[in-house]
Amino acid sequence: MHHFLKETDFTLDQAQAIFKLAQTFKKDRHNCPDALLEQSWGLLFYKSSTRTRISFEVGVNELGGFPLVLNTDQTQINRGESLADTAKVLSRYLQGLVVRSYGHDIVETFAAEGDIPIINGLTDFNHPCQLYTDLFSMLERYSPDEMDITQLKGKKIAFFGDCASNMANSWILCAAYFGMQIVLAGPQEFSPTKVIQKVLKNEQLPVEFTFTENANTAAKDADVLYTDVWVSMGDEQDAQERRSVMKPYQVTEELVALAKKDALFMHCLPAHPGEEVSEAVLDSPQSIIFDQAENRLHTQKAIMAQLVKMNLPT
Ligand code: CP
Ligand code: NVA
Repeated sequence: MHHFLKETDFTLDQAQAIFKLAQTFKKDRHNCPDALLEQSWGLLFYKSSTRTRISFEVGVNELGGFPLVLNTDQTQINRGESLADTAKVLSRYLQGLVVRSYGHDIVETFAAEGDIPIINGLTDFNHPCQLYTDLFSMLERYSPDEMDITQLKGKKIAFFGDCASNMANSWILCAAYFGMQIVLAGPQEFSPTKVIQKVLKNEQLPVEFTFTENANTAAKDADVLYTDVWVSMGDEQDAQERRSVMKPYQVTEELVALAKKDALFMHCLPAHPGEEVSEAVLDSPQSIIFDQAENRLHTQKAIMAQLVKMNLPT
């Protein structure tokens, strides 16, 4: 059974096919192959969500399937039923499951114990659906006809703020996998973790990211400036400290001015204007945040269609 738990779960050829398919879905939202016809897909959430929940719910529907939104606090998971039993039970009803959880081990357990494809809708470790969408959004600009992933090679990504976060991990992994250069800027205590270094080694990818405490160094000549919230879901206990130490890493117009002239500003959203990014940058012509949000729908439809194809009986 093929799953999408981390960015490298698709080969580069499969990733290329996903971006091309997402492009055709975007051109005509309602002219989709019925990839999920007569299928029911669950969307299981341990955490809040706007974009992931709605884009998957609409996406399953547009592919001819039936989406069920499940919040863990309304299931027996909340009362202690094991994940192994839950995964086996859900596999008897559903043809696929998107899971947003705290620990990454939860999505791995669903994948190991059930027998339906699992898609990671964000964990504390990573956010692969967001990253595939972000790469799609970049390719729309760098290679609008071909959506050629080799056009990502050598692009400089500057990531600001919490460099130990799920989004930072996803960017580090994708930079290594798709051949981009990544410089992360943030406070020392929120530098990239040993876990992401171990994952890179396990995936036999180069451990080549740069970490700096100097935001200007990261921004210089960047193709993309990327930031995310300073307080991720589950990190609320040290919110005050995070807001204080990450202040120097706000993406401002001055920082953007150090990047390439045509640099993109990107954010997975939700944003906190005046914290990780200034209002002026969020609203600037270089900001593509709402294209990113829209592209979640097209890209995830392509991810589901690709998984269904890969899991067809041979
Ligand atoms: N970017 C993202 O995953 O948004 P949601 O938390 O609203 O799903
Ligand atoms: N890092 C953020 C991403 C939200 C989409 C969080 O985990 O809350």
